[in-house]
Amino acid sequence: MSIKKVMVIGAGQMGSGIAQVTAEAGLPVILHDVEDKFIQKGLAGITKNFDRAVEKGRMSVVARDAALKLITPSGGIADAAGVDLVVEAIVEKMTVKAKVFSELDAICPPHTILASNTSSLPITEIAAATKRPEKVIGMHFMNPVPVMTLVEIIRGLATDDSVCKAIADLTMKLGKSPVEVRDVPGFVSNRVLQVMINEAVFCVYEGVATPEGVDSVMKLGMNHPMGPLALADLIGLDTVLYILQIMHEGYADSKYRPCPLLRQYVMAGWLGKKVGRGFYTY
Ligand code: CAA
Ligand code: NAD
Repeated sequence: MSIKKVMVIGAGQMGSGIAQVTAEAGLPVILHDVEDKFIQKGLAGITKNFDRAVEKGRMSVVARDAALKLITPSGGIADAAGVDLVVEAIVEKMTVKAKVFSELDAICPPHTILASNTSSLPITEIAAATKRPEKVIGMHFMNPVPVMTLVEIIRGLATDDSVCKAIADLTMKLGKSPVEVRDVPGFVSNRVLQVMINEAVFCVYEGVATPEGVDSVMKLGMNHPMGPLALADLIGLDTVLYILQIMHEGYADSKYRPCPLLRQYVMAGWLGKKVGRGFYTY
């Protein structure tokens, strides 16, 4: 099964990063979002990253121009009819993802693989929104996509071996390392990471330390490249809350209960770096 043309649904921080690394690997990619202004914002971010790579001497001007040419802004979701793989990177909500997968299933030819970049939702449930569950898979990139080399590959109950192989091969073509994990809420990455982030929020909530204090402990004491609260701001506090809620419900285990302070920040619209305010101001 060879993947020659890709479409990315959602041009936010993850979708634009996925489109960037796909084009860098020489594959044509269509970038889609609900409004053209979001696609343009995604493209502007990609162009900025490529320009920086040129400035730093990591990419030639010719390679930058060639990669940019491979990215086409979508004219509508119907463009999915012409691709071999769709990677979905929209909001972390099952109802919204299921609707998009059902639409894609009706548009795409039978051979097209439908992948989700979900952080925590069951791939088996997303696949059930389609009539091709054997062609649905989790392809979980890490943020920032151009920098982080892990991709968790999540096999749903019905996912075909050939689909897992095609996605693992593509992951390596993108210069990343695939790790296959079972379809459980939060997979491995967020099961481990979000519990730490939530505990860091509880430390602030209980007045144990300031956000700067908590982050310094983890950076200076554990050599983390950034503290858990700065990382939560980078991920997006809405996404962190959705992931915790999905694991809390999925495991029915109180260890995943989201800290009330996190809920309050999300209610206030303090969603982190993407809006300029979270645990820090940007
Ligand atoms: N896009 C492209 N490149 C980026 C970038 C972005 N958004 N952010 C940083 N970079 C690049 C910079 O351009 C820089 O490149 P150069 O070497 O050419 O200068 C390089 O990364 C290092 O950046 P900085 O010097 O600005 O800062 P840093 O050294 O602190 O690194 C970081 C930034 C890579 C984000 C680092 O702090 C880090 O690794 N943090 C942890 C990230 C992490 O844990 N990610 C996983 C999140 S969880 C997840 O993704 C799963 C989920 O479902 C929620
Ligand atoms: P984001 O808010 O930056 O971007 C989401 C984009 O999807 C927005 O541009 C939005 O307009 C668009 N969108 C929403 N509904 C849509 C629809 N029906 N059709 C087309 N586009 C639609 O979010 P993000 O951080 O890029 O996260 C996207 C997905 O990736 C989520 O499932 C998230 O859990 C997952 N993820 C996030 C991270 C992270 O660190 N932020 C890491 C790994 C995976």
